[in-house]
Amino acid sequence: MTFRAPKGTDDILPPASRAWRRLLLTWEDWAARYGYDLVLTPLFEATEVFARGVGEGTEVVQKQMYTFTDGGGRSLTLRPEGTAPVVRAFLEAGANGIMKLAYSGPMFRYERPQAGRRRQFYQVGVEYLGSREAAADAEVIELGYRFLTEAGMSDLSVQLNSIGDRECRPAYLDVLRAYLDRHREVLCEDSLLRLETNPMRVLDCKVCAPKLSDAPSPVEHLCAACAAHFDEVRAILGELGVPFEEAPHLVRGLDYYERTAFEYVATDLEAAQNAVGGGGRYDGLAELLGGKPVPGVGFALGLDRLMLTLGDVEEPHPLDLYLVVAGERRREALRFTSELRRLGIRADLDLEDRSVKAQFRAANRRGASGVLVVGDEWTEGRVVAKDLTTGRQEVIDVGEVAAWTRRR
Ligand code: HAM
Repeated sequence: MTFRAPKGTDDILPPASRAWRRLLLTWEDWAARYGYDLVLTPLFEATEVFARGVGEGTEVVQKQMYTFTDGGGRSLTLRPEGTAPVVRAFLEAGANGIMKLAYSGPMFRYERPQAGRRRQFYQVGVEYLGSREAAADAEVIELGYRFLTEAGMSDLSVQLNSIGDRECRPAYLDVLRAYLDRHREVLCEDSLLRLETNPMRVLDCKVCAPKLSDAPSPVEHLCAACAAHFDEVRAILGELGVPFEEAPHLVRGLDYYERTAFEYVATDLEAAQNAVGGGGRYDGLAELLGGKPVPGVGFALGLDRLMLTLGDVEEPHPLDLYLVVAGERRREALRFTSELRRLGIRADLDLEDRSVKAQFRAANRRGASGVLVVGDEWTEGRVVAKDLTTGRQEVIDVGEVAAWTRRR
């Protein structure tokens, strides 16, 4: 019998995993540059964390959660997203003040699988907790933009909107409900239900949204405080040099957002999966989870989708050196490799007794950028060094290997 990975999940093996690894390293670098600390939370939470945090009326909670009962009779859910868990953790720790947190890891949603829409998918994200400042929104949006650009995304558009807050939204929802009521005939079954319970979700419906292009938008109904906040976000983004487009009908699929909502869109991907990331401000989420008020803003990026838009990126070299051993020199070569590793060089060698030709093949398969041949010259303290990227080959002293590797 053979097994396959469950539907909608992927195995990511080398060489494809090398591009993922590089992306994750780039992410960690950029998150650290903006002052984010690492946060790790469980892969599952009490189901209520998502039901209350993300919202009972959302597609995620209604249709997409992997919920199970554990041996103790608790209802648990594999996390469909990272924001509610991070806010839960902040509250549980009794934390105060500003906390800037970054995460990466798998999320789980029961979706109809297709390219860029998976049941287990990988997110990286940040949550900036404790600040109500528009500058925090702008800085968060900038980080996502800079990281995506650095990662190599060229067809990138930042879509920006404000969806108001607890003050101004009720009046907007009345206007929207009245509009939708007049357009019942174009609404799908789900949207007809949502019209009563959660009308803003209708604008997020992939089927109905294209037919509702003249719907009233939240940004036309902002209270003075929300309008001022939105003005400031736009002004600061301009100062930071982050290009954006206003998207008056962007409402996001999760209920916890207030004020700023944004998406990073890959303009070269199919519309249904072209959001490589999204986020916004969620000043009411901590209270939805039963805690004190903690304002926050953040985003998450979907790496599966990002990899699709990046396409065939040049594969990074995971190894600086691969040692090819000729003759009975395996143990000496292993000792030498150990020295190189301690000098910070990524080096490996074949521990099997294989032909030189097979070892060269392994060097290429393993993605080494250089090869050292430990052959007859070894007795004179020399090795053949070959740069696999240029094909250039020379004989060098073993004492020069570290410098030769770094020079390339
Ligand atoms: P989200 O828009 O639900 O937001 O997901 C963010 C990104 O995760 C999406 O733009 C997409 O790239 C990726 N994603 C979502 N579902 C799938 C899927 N089934 N397959 C592949 N990729 C997927 C959130 O999750 C919020 N927690 C973001 C946030 C953080 N808001 C504030 N802080």
